[in-house]
Amino acid sequence: MSNFEAEGCFVSPALIRGLTFDGEKGLFVHSLENQEKQRTQEKQGKHEGKTDLVLPPVTQDDAEATVKAWKTAYDAYVSTSGTYPKIVEVSGTGFYSLGSGYDEAADASSPVSSRVGHLSSVQRADVVRGKIGLVTGGAQGFGEGMVRGLVELGAFVYIADLNLAGAQALSDSLNAAAGRTVSAALPVNVSDEDSVEAMMHEVLARTGGLDVFISNAGVLRAGSVKTMAFRDFTFVTNIDYAGFFLCSKHASRVLAWQNLPSCAYYTDIIAISSKSGLEGSNKNGAYAGAKFGTIGLVQSFALELAADNIKVNAVCPGNFLDGPLWSDPEKGLFVQYLRTGKVPGAKTVDDVRRSYETKVPLGRGCRTDDVMKAIAYIVEQKYETGQAVPVTGGQVMLN
Ligand SMILES: NC(=O)c1ccc[n+]([C@@H]2O[C@H](COP(=O)([O-])OP(=O)(O)OC[C@H]3O[C@@H](n4cnc5c(N)ncnc54)[C@H](O)[C@@H]3O)[C@@H](O)[C@H]2O)c1
Repeated sequence: MSNFEAEGCFVSPALIRGLTFDGEKGLFVHSLENQEKQRTQEKQGKHEGKTDLVLPPVTQDDAEATVKAWKTAYDAYVSTSGTYPKIVEVSGTGFYSLGSGYDEAADASSPVSSRVGHLSSVQRADVVRGKIGLVTGGAQGFGEGMVRGLVELGAFVYIADLNLAGAQALSDSLNAAAGRTVSAALPVNVSDEDSVEAMMHEVLARTGGLDVFISNAGVLRAGSVKTMAFRDFTFVTNIDYAGFFLCSKHASRVLAWQNLPSCAYYTDIIAISSKSGLEGSNKNGAYAGAKFGTIGLVQSFALELAADNIKVNAVCPGNFLDGPLWSDPEKGLFVQYLRTGKVPGAKTVDDVRRSYETKVPLGRGCRTDDVMKAIAYIVEQKYETGQAVPVTGGQVMLN
């Protein structure tokens, strides 16, 4: 119970989401403004628009008392009506609209379509179906691939990025293709605590929490230890290492609140480290150090957060040779390495690319679907935490 903090309106949606836990996931919990609630009532008439369930106020600093009182009220409602409540009021705090997807929750006048029940087991392909994911740095590169992969597997995904325009464009195209809201863009700078906290408050207001938090945003500035500017070193460290701390800090509180009502709600924090988090990288120490350090944080947070049923793992991809970091025709590493003669004898970009492919026993660069398989495994596996899963085509092997 140590993670409970009486932050009223921030705690409530996560606890409500936790109450609706079905053995795999909770419902989407959308915070309604009082005015919106009133409009809904006026639109629908008194009967349909009325609050289905009124929960007592959050007991300050006493998670156990709050959860006990809420569970009693919630269980009584569900056993009498056989359905989930649609509109939940927390006395003195606010109103919440529930749904099995984003659109259903955001529409306070729609009924809740899903059946109350306990899911016994889930196949790998369904491991994130109906769940809520968040990918930092999701606007492009590996992150974009993960966003697309999660949406394809049936999740709703927050695309959280410094590049809000890029995140919004991706979200718009995914929602248009699906014909419903399967994603939402959020602005975030993962190296700024206020920004990360605001991102999580937005998540709480829109969906009451989430299931899979992927800390993917990362940057690379290579350079010799003899000459690298300290500001470049700290730039990389603040985003790739400290950014993971900030995201874990604010995400874990929400995930812990969600777990409180059932004490059985498993969720995931996944760090995208790198093969450079498993072995050193020549003239790339800031990056490799941050990626190694991330695995240290993963192991440490995993030990602490196991009590909250939060699994914390890392994925360590090999080089994403098709991604913009490598293949961008102007700024990509292939072009840079060709210009600087890093690969002896290489005369074209293709020569540089081949030299990197031949370093991989399985003969090619890492792709986002390779990373997605590792993510699906991590989410499905309920008996592992604190691990760093390599996805390197055999380029880096664990001892
Ligand atoms: N590309 C590779 O070969 C490779 C290999 C192994 C691991 N990785 C890791 O995968 C992750 C993604 O790499 P990528 O190559 O797709 O990168 P990318 O440069 O293509 O995309 C990174 C995304 O993160 C966003 N971003 C940057 N700084 C941010 C910040 N402070 N806050 C929020 N968002 C921010 C960018 O706007 C961009 O959308 C990184 O953590 C990287 O270290 C990449």
